[in-house]
Amino acid sequence: MSTFKAPKGTYDLIPPRSAEYLAVREAFAAPLRRAGYGYVETPGFENVELFARGVGESTDIVTKEMYTLTTKGGDELALRPEGTASVLRGALENNLHKAGNLPVKLWYSGSYYRYERPQKGRYRHFSQVGAEAIGTEDPYLDAELIILARDSYRSLGLRNFRILLNSLGDANCRPAYRALLQEHLRGLDLDEDTRRRIDINPLRVLDDKREAVQRQLTGAPLMADHLCAECKAYHERVRELLTAAGVDFEDDPKLVRGLDYYTRTTFEFVHDGLGSQSAVGGGGRYDGLSEMIGGPALPSVGWALGVDRTVLALEAEGVDLQLPAVTQVFGVPLGEEATGELFGLITRLRRDGVAADLAFGGKGLKNAMKSANRSGARYALILGERDLAEGVVQLKELETGGQESVALDRVVAEVQAKLGSLPTR
Ligand code: HAM
Repeated sequence: MSTFKAPKGTYDLIPPRSAEYLAVREAFAAPLRRAGYGYVETPGFENVELFARGVGESTDIVTKEMYTLTTKGGDELALRPEGTASVLRGALENNLHKAGNLPVKLWYSGSYYRYERPQKGRYRHFSQVGAEAIGTEDPYLDAELIILARDSYRSLGLRNFRILLNSLGDANCRPAYRALLQEHLRGLDLDEDTRRRIDINPLRVLDDKREAVQRQLTGAPLMADHLCAECKAYHERVRELLTAAGVDFEDDPKLVRGLDYYTRTTFEFVHDGLGSQSAVGGGGRYDGLSEMIGGPALPSVGWALGVDRTVLALEAEGVDLQLPAVTQVFGVPLGEEATGELFGLITRLRRDGVAADLAFGGKGLKNAMKSANRSGARYALILGERDLAEGVVQLKELETGGQESVALDRVVAEVQAKLGSLPTR
């Protein structure tokens, strides 16, 4: 072990588990590409003000969880705690919204940083795949995104997840509801911190997970009962579209997410096998965010799915992702000359698209065969001095142990024919 360890709340992603992460990312990304979302990458850090204004001055993310730094040049930066504000900033800066083709549909995948109290499923460095549809107010878009997320979880084999759905209203109806809620909450027996929250962000009180708080919230006014006609109709339409697509969801009138930019549709994907960190993904509409960060009115909707928690959810359900072995052919050379010959063969196989590896370091037969078996390869190519003299190589099927001699100049074609329809990655 070295003197150093990964920082608290972080972990290294190592093989073979790392392959699951790649598979999960791809399961989220592929449907987005097929649905017209273009890939976007933004910097890992941004001006701190972008998140303060975008995510919200009063949110835990901004007040407690941001990794901030001052550069030598005096710039105040923050490691990104989430993707939406950055992606919208990037879209605006690159004038994507002016290309006359709304919505601008973008997807992203990357690392995010929150200084949270670490526990299983909650890390200080974590990974999300996200999607944003920018510049269009259309319930079909909200439905599209929820369907895409739900289908990608299912394509991975996940079953024990639920979709919680709510509407947070808009600039029209939320202020009056907010005042009503504040009045109600002020009459309850709540601690100092929560009372302060009533002034700054009363909707977040509804989301308080503590039993003592929840017990008092039974009679609290709910946004669902105070939506304006437009918001109500919009929400009904989203619900109808989800139902028509065969997507089960639960209305959760107390669902308030930890970011302040949401309007109207909000949703969360929760998995029942994960304990307290049960949200595997979440998102919603954020019609006012563009204006909050100095842009024009661009009603938008999006989500981010947590890769770390999705992998944990797959493990909790015992889903085996059936990842094909990366290596298909493994070279076992015996002696200096054979190593040179086999290295050439393996290079040719790789150039022809075959996943091939080789025993390095002058290993003897026993150790090299151990490596071949561990690699998960289907075939080993064993080349000894006598084979070399005869111009052949031994092609061994590792699972059955069946072995045949193949002429060196025919082996690439022979291996390809044998691998035939086997999947490659
Ligand atoms: P979020 O709910 O904060 O939303 O994060 C989305 C997902 O990221 C969570 O459901 C969870 O799976 C994962 N996640 C968040 N924090 C952690 C953590 N500390 N450790 C492990 N996983 C974590 C957003 O970030 C919004 N930007 C989503 C969005 C996109 N809304 C509109 N567009």
